[in-house]
Amino acid sequence: MADRGLVVWSLERVGELHGDPTPQVYARLFAASPELEGMFLLDRQGAARGAMLGHVIDTLIDLAGPKAYGANMIYAEMTNHQGLGVPPAQFVTFFDVVRSVFRELLGAEWTAEVDEAWDDTLRDVKSIVAKVEAAQAAA
Ligand code: HEM
Repeated sequence: MADRGLVVWSLERVGELHGDPTPQVYARLFAASPELEGMFLLDRQGAARGAMLGHVIDTLIDLAGPKAYGANMIYAEMTNHQGLGVPPAQFVTFFDVVRSVFRELLGAEWTAEVDEAWDDTLRDVKSIVAKVEAAQAAA
């Protein structure tokens, strides 16, 4: 069984080794989806980008452990972000982008066990997003 504690470990380890990964995460996001960059034009100092990544990391820590509010956070933010024009599928993309940047930053420290822990946790994200999409399609 996957040890989701390794997700929390990897999030902390990236901070220890590399400091704030906000620039790398958004560079990867905009390379994959250039149309999203314009949404952050007013965020000149990167405060919104940093705050949003912080919320995503907190959501991952919750889903990897207590599962107290992570699912609700995703439900609520998917609704808020639809108001901003962010399609639901981009929510899955954002978590995948965080995972691939963190994997690259950890290099050899990203073991098969860490990979499995992320797979397991991101399965929850995908099923939460799919539920919201199904509910919206039925409405
Ligand atoms: C590609 C996917 C996403 C895009 C394009 C996006 C876009 C944005 C934008 C443009 C803002 C700034 C809004 C403003 O200042 O008016 C924002 C803020 C925010 N986003 Fe996202 N978002 C994405 C994914 C997510 C995810 C996955 C979460 C959490 C699970 C999230 C949580 C938040 C929160 C909490 C804020 C408010 C930040 C603050 O100022 O405290 N976003 N997002």
